[in-house]
Amino acid sequence: MRVIYLVSLLLLEEVYMWPDAPCRTPPPAANYTLEQYTGRWFEIGKIQTTGGAFFEKDCVCTHIDVGQSRKDPSETIVSNICNKKTFDGKRIIANGTLTSNRQPSDGRYNETIFPAPLPVAYNIIVLQTNDFSVEYDCVVEFGIANYCVHILSRRPTLNETIVENLLKLAEQYDLNPKKLKFTRTNQTNCTYT
Ligand SMILES: *[C@@H]1O[C@H](CO)[C@@H](O)[C@H](O)[C@H]1NC(C)=O
Ligand SMILES: *[C@@H]1O[C@H](CO)[C@@H](O)[C@H](O)[C@H]1NC(C)=O
Ligand SMILES: *[C@@H]1O[C@H](CO)[C@@H](O)[C@H](O)[C@H]1NC(C)=O
Ligand SMILES: *[C@@H]1O[C@H](CO)[C@@H](O)[C@H](O)[C@H]1NC(C)=O
Ligand SMILES: *[C@@H]1O[C@H](CO)[C@@H](O)[C@H](O)[C@H]1NC(C)=O
Ligand SMILES: *[C@@H]1O[C@H](CO)[C@@H](O)[C@H](O)[C@H]1NC(C)=O
Repeated sequence: MRVIYLVSLLLLEEVYMWPDAPCRTPPPAANYTLEQYTGRWFEIGKIQTTGGAFFEKDCVCTHIDVGQSRKDPSETIVSNICNKKTFDGKRIIANGTLTSNRQPSDGRYNETIFPAPLPVAYNIIVLQTNDFSVEYDCVVEFGIANYCVHILSRRPTLNETIVENLLKLAEQYDLNPKKLKFTRTNQTNCTYT
């Protein structure tokens, strides 16, 4: 009974909130170039709605590899790589394709990632090439917005002051209307290949 009560409360809340706040279009990272975003980034943490978490749900050691598609140089591939639950857990890889109607891109893309039916808006909003970056993605389907803010670093750790400042920026851009909490990604004992 209690479970049913809880579930209906959750549903009610969804209905009450419908439609969600739209996706934001924050300013892209100043002087963005794909060359500077290319390469490996380690996920320090994320703010993520449940619907956006289908790939990342149980992930640890999460990192992304950004590079040009060999097949079509106008396309960029983002490989999302992680281990399920523990550092020695099953390796999960989900490749997304970034496209932009701007050549060269200004840091805003559409990302197509299987099995998501719709492309998501994928925005690089902070880019310090050798240090850290912030990526915000969002899609609205049936009035429900799924969004994610990723704090990324060139190393598996990042100075806490910087993390706090990046989270403040995300707040300033109103990227987290559901006030979800920032979840840190476990990068302990990971092996990256
Ligand atoms: C972007 O480039 C302009 C012109 O080269 C420069 O003045 C500015 O400081 C750069 N901004 C950042 C954040 O790198
Ligand atoms: C994912 O992307 C990486 C890097 O481009 C590539 O090596 C790999 O083959 C891709 N995997 C799949 C399943 O497409
Ligand atoms: C993403 O796709 C939408 C719909 O096709 C389009 O309006 C928008 O301009 C695209 N954005 C970019 C950055 O290419
Ligand atoms: C983190 O960065 C801040 C300012 O950028 C600096 O003052 C602080 O000493 C750094 N902390 C560590 C542990 O490196
Ligand atoms: C992170 O992973 C390590 C190694 O698997 C584990 O010992 C540690 O408890 C984890 N930390 C958290 C906060 O879950
Ligand atoms: C995880 O790393 C710590 C040091 O960071 C080490 O003491 C520990 O033995 C490692 N655990 C495993 C299971 O490899």
